[in-house]
Amino acid sequence: MSEDMDLEDADLTEAARKLFSGPVSFLKSAPELKFLPDPGAPEIAFAGRSNVGKSSLLNKLTNRNALARTSNTPGRTQELNYFEVGDPVRIRLVDMPGYGFAKAPKDLARRWRYLVNDYLRGRQVLKRALVLIDSRHGIKEVDQEVMKMLDDAAVSYRVVLTKADKIKASELAEVTARTEGEARKHPAAHPEIIVTSSEKGLGMDRLRAAVLEAALT
Ligand code: GTP
Ligand code: MG
Repeated sequence: MSEDMDLEDADLTEAARKLFSGPVSFLKSAPELKFLPDPGAPEIAFAGRSNVGKSSLLNKLTNRNALARTSNTPGRTQELNYFEVGDPVRIRLVDMPGYGFAKAPKDLARRWRYLVNDYLRGRQVLKRALVLIDSRHGIKEVDQEVMKMLDDAAVSYRVVLTKADKIKASELAEVTARTEGEARKHPAAHPEIIVTSSEKGLGMDRLRAAVLEAALT
């Protein structure tokens, strides 16, 4: 029984690795919902606070250095940026603007709510959201609000810890356990979280497999 499970996992991991090492390209940037592309493939969205590492993770996942623009300055990504994986296209990855940026002007925060809430709630082809959490900070109140919104909209999501290279192993074990405990309280969250570092390439096989698995459901 468990051997079969392992075999399935290994197959999925291998299929995901192949898919992500194949063609990946930028499709379009949607500053407003009316600019979203017509549904054409299952979508996986990267959500999280500004500067948490969404664009970096998308680049690492696809083995591209500069596919999605990254920056030290929070608020780099302002639109829904679409990337296509595979030829023919199997999955669309959506790099979202960050939330919870303290210095963001009020109208930016409002734009985020409209754009992102409406996208997350209303998009039929959205198969899963990845909610990225900085390992150094854990889940913050603003993350809880977004997770609650996803629960209410019944959008299935997975919590992903980022920047694991930035803290000590003992701290990482602690924040992982704490974050997993939190995730389990949320009905739409996957009970297992994924620990990653875009800097070190940690967790990429698992994340690729999770993305492919979500796209296949
Ligand atoms: P917004 O688009 O502003 O919402 O930010 P984002 O979530 O897309 O973050 P981005 O990928 O631009 O990364 C923000 C900063 O964190 C950059 O300076 C990255 O180099 C850095 N960073 C991202 N991931 C990692 C990581 O795994 N380890 C380390 N050490 N730094 C990282
Ligand atoms: Mg970004």
